[in-house]
Amino acid sequence: MPSTVSSRAPQSRAEPPQDCRVCARLAAFRDINRSSYPDFFNAPVPSFGPADAALLIVGLAPGLKGANQTGRPFTGDYAGDLLYETLGEFGFARGTYRADPNDGLELVDCRITNAVRCVPPQNKPIGAEIKACRPFLAATLGQSDSLKAIVALGRIAHDSVLSALGQRRAAFPFGHNARHEIGSLTLFDSYHCSRYNTNTGRLTPEMFKAVFAAVRQEIG
Ligand code: URA
Repeated sequence: MPSTVSSRAPQSRAEPPQDCRVCARLAAFRDINRSSYPDFFNAPVPSFGPADAALLIVGLAPGLKGANQTGRPFTGDYAGDLLYETLGEFGFARGTYRADPNDGLELVDCRITNAVRCVPPQNKPIGAEIKACRPFLAATLGQSDSLKAIVALGRIAHDSVLSALGQRRAAFPFGHNARHEIGSLTLFDSYHCSRYNTNTGRLTPEMFKAVFAAVRQEIG
């Protein structure tokens, strides 16, 4: 584990408080959503899966009517359909994904988090928000002594992981299905499994599965 990330970060530092107001724009958006959608979760979405997992998947940010509604990463978001199906296929999830945090789905040796924990307007966090949320990502990376592999879904997640690990971005260029050795960790990159990327064919299910096949081979 690189020395820039504490290997035993306390649990509290890995999750923002439910009324985190570090990012004024995201806090204001949350206030609006709390009044427009009072039944939604409308808070920083916590990581999902065992804290001591060997694999950490890093997404971008919760979708308004997906993870921000359900309170579980990728749950109810279009991107979750391919992600959870793929995790099941490679033995990283057990049970049936039903886009509902009470579906009983369990992650196996795998944890999912987001680079930005609060839903951003138009699904687009700005640089200052990605930076402000990074200490939570760094603490999440430091939680598992068993961590072996990270999958970054998209360039923003890739860049934020590198910064959280204290690495230079220029040394590890993002590319779909690229792998980077960083100390004892392997960082795998994938195009984000967003609706846009899958609908345009930038990311096919086969391309996405190839990444997880490589991860499974690495983790064993
Ligand atoms: N939902 C999430 O939780 N994260 C993403 O990156 C996309 C959708």
